[in-house]
Amino acid sequence: MEKSKPAEAVKNAVKTASEKIADALTPDVPGAPGSAPPSVEEPTTPHDPLPPKPEQGAPQTRTPTGAETGAPTTANGQQGAYLTTAQGARLRDTDHSLKAGPRGPVLLQDHHLREKITHFDHERIPERVVHARGAGAHGVFTAYGTAEAVTRAGFLRKGRETDVFVRFSTVLGSRGSADTVRDTRGFATKFYTAEGTFDLVGNNMPVFFIQDAIKFPDIIHAGKPHPDREIPQAQSAHDTFWDFVSLHTEAQHHTIWNMSDRGIPRSYRTMEGFGVHTFRLVNEAGETVLAKFHWKPKLGVHSLTWEEAQMLGGLDPDFHRRDLYDAIEAGAYPEWELGIQVFPDTPEETFAGIDLLDPTKIVPEELAEVQPIGRLVLNRTPTNFFAETEQVAFHLGHLPPGIDVTNDPLLQGRLFSYVDTQLTRLGGPNFAQIPINRPHAAVNDMLRDGFHQHAVHAGVAPYRPNSLDGGNPFPAGDAEHAFVDVPVTVAQAPKVRASPASFDDHYSQVRLFWLSMSPVEREHIIRAYTFELAKCYHQAIKERQLQSLANIDPVLCEQVATGLGLPAPQPTVPLADVTPSPALSQVGREWPSDGRTVGIVVDPAGDLDGVDEVRRAVFAAGMVPLLIAPHGGLVGDLPVQRTFATGRSVEFDAVLLAGAPAPAPDATPARDAKAGRPGPAAVDPRVLLLVEECWRHAKAIGAWGAGVTVLEQAGVAGTPGIVAANSGPEALAAVQQLMAAHRVWERFPASVA
Ligand code: HEM
Repeated sequence: MEKSKPAEAVKNAVKTASEKIADALTPDVPGAPGSAPPSVEEPTTPHDPLPPKPEQGAPQTRTPTGAETGAPTTANGQQGAYLTTAQGARLRDTDHSLKAGPRGPVLLQDHHLREKITHFDHERIPERVVHARGAGAHGVFTAYGTAEAVTRAGFLRKGRETDVFVRFSTVLGSRGSADTVRDTRGFATKFYTAEGTFDLVGNNMPVFFIQDAIKFPDIIHAGKPHPDREIPQAQSAHDTFWDFVSLHTEAQHHTIWNMSDRGIPRSYRTMEGFGVHTFRLVNEAGETVLAKFHWKPKLGVHSLTWEEAQMLGGLDPDFHRRDLYDAIEAGAYPEWELGIQVFPDTPEETFAGIDLLDPTKIVPEELAEVQPIGRLVLNRTPTNFFAETEQVAFHLGHLPPGIDVTNDPLLQGRLFSYVDTQLTRLGGPNFAQIPINRPHAAVNDMLRDGFHQHAVHAGVAPYRPNSLDGGNPFPAGDAEHAFVDVPVTVAQAPKVRASPASFDDHYSQVRLFWLSMSPVEREHIIRAYTFELAKCYHQAIKERQLQSLANIDPVLCEQVATGLGLPAPQPTVPLADVTPSPALSQVGREWPSDGRTVGIVVDPAGDLDGVDEVRRAVFAAGMVPLLIAPHGGLVGDLPVQRTFATGRSVEFDAVLLAGAPAPAPDATPARDAKAGRPGPAAVDPRVLLLVEECWRHAKAIGAWGAGVTVLEQAGVAGTPGIVAANSGPEALAAVQQLMAAHRVWERFPASVA
């Protein structure tokens, strides 16, 4: 049927409007899927695959044995304009199975159907037994040269740049669990050094639950969901976790870190990282020191509030990975400094009375300064999640010459566990040949065959000594940068299943941590213990944990006991006399606000020029502005990212009110429960809710023009961290100043000292 002219006119008008919106939306705000905006019509002209998004990187195109190929990284992916089989034969149709007539049965000979379905059936591999939920990014590490005196590692030579891949993770949850749960975060870094790959497989907490790897299955079985009902997912707030840590008191130090704000980071970009164990470094002269690794984030250490973390679990379970990828896409590259604490390598392996082999202990930074040795910048997101983030395989035994392990019994067990699990997870012994795991150093390892062998080894003599392959490969010496197994003396001792007596102190450093916290951080710790223990069914477990809290601090114990409605016990060990470490607190300093998100509430009838000016200023300050309006599309010429229906306070680090928008047509509880009770309101009730939530979460809120009246209607005007300004730029400047301290802590004076 021929289209009538009015219908064409409507179609053209709609097309023009949608193209205008698409044009306005495309360049600005990160997060768009795909590297080019899609057309409304299905594309039919053959062309090569679209390139990845500009911020996406991929593993270098190396051979399985580490040689550069010179091929572009896109050669790792699909090629050509046409659909093919896995063998490269071009296909005419992939929408219909081959049948005996259009209504007939499907034929077994349909090789394309079988190939497509069979491959799909095998797309899933086992998730990691721990740290299943994670997000990775590519980057570069640049050495300052300050570690040259203590280690011969080539990648730590001054100015040396090394490609890295970093994977952040939670520990307990399944691959599809929420990012913002209370948990330890993994911080695993693969340095592709010219002397072999170095994996620094750490966490965002400097201590661990157990002192001996043989207990790893115990702590993980206790923390994972209960085996009968498989609940709760990705939580420690349940009986089995608290049963274990209350019986196994060496876990108390790590537990208080989890109960602190460190357990709910604001972002991967605002986490510290720790190698946890003490390592042994060896220099060119063969001299050794003991050392602990630290990652210090440029943006400071910041956390979510507990309510935000819970809300995000439902509203945006991908909050941390989205934040990481959006920041990189927006050019706000996450940055850390790598630092080391250095200790003399004495036979006692202790420093200031602290046993350096005990992974439940820290050495306070005030006693041993963290010396910066290099800078990490994450500047590329993965092109393919599975190929890179899922298949990356870290292992503590991936060490370059100049870095060696110690006898920490937790570390020693880890040396076995990672490869062992990867054999199953990645389906055989050749996972080092997967592109993301390929070394950037020449590989000549005499390992042969096995599932998924990608190398085509030449020669006939993968053994040593040989003469048939001319003696190759040859052992290397110092001149060829061979790995150094430091010849540490092992003291004569009986063979025992036991720990040193120094490992028996389970409380002094927990108290040190508690006493190092600011008052508001202590409030959060009390709250976390009370919440988690209240979620346990069994009173015996609560009482047992209260006993540990009594051994840490009486105020902590009393406050939690009050919340649980139980008596506070007396300590069973003397309270340790410890010196607090201010470096452990994450409150009280100021930090850059790069890559933060600023929500701007827009009233279509308000100051749109002012909004535009502020939006540009937010971009110019290295942050991301998200406009929140009554409806999507455009307001004036401004692109809208969130509506009152889709936006929620937890997405924003600060909020600016550019007007007092009247209730939108969808502000009815029947359409949107956030609209609250029906009734007359001058301002859209979702905007008032946004302000209330931001206020509760101690975020800076600024307003100008009619926006100031919203502050009054929400009942927050004149309280700390609330800015009523004369113009948008003035409001933004004041809010940015407040964001430097991360949150407006003075809004909530602490009740415990
Ligand atoms: C200081 C203590 C520990 C730290 C800092 C730590 C850190 C990590 C991190 C960051 C990951 C995730 C790696 C990734 O992103 O792929 C991981 C995975 C893993 N960890 Fe640990 N871990 C510790 C202790 C242990 C112990 C004691 C064991 C066992 C004896 C263990 C076994 C594993 C296993 C099996 C995986 C999964 C590896 C994979 O499937 O590729 N971890 N650990």
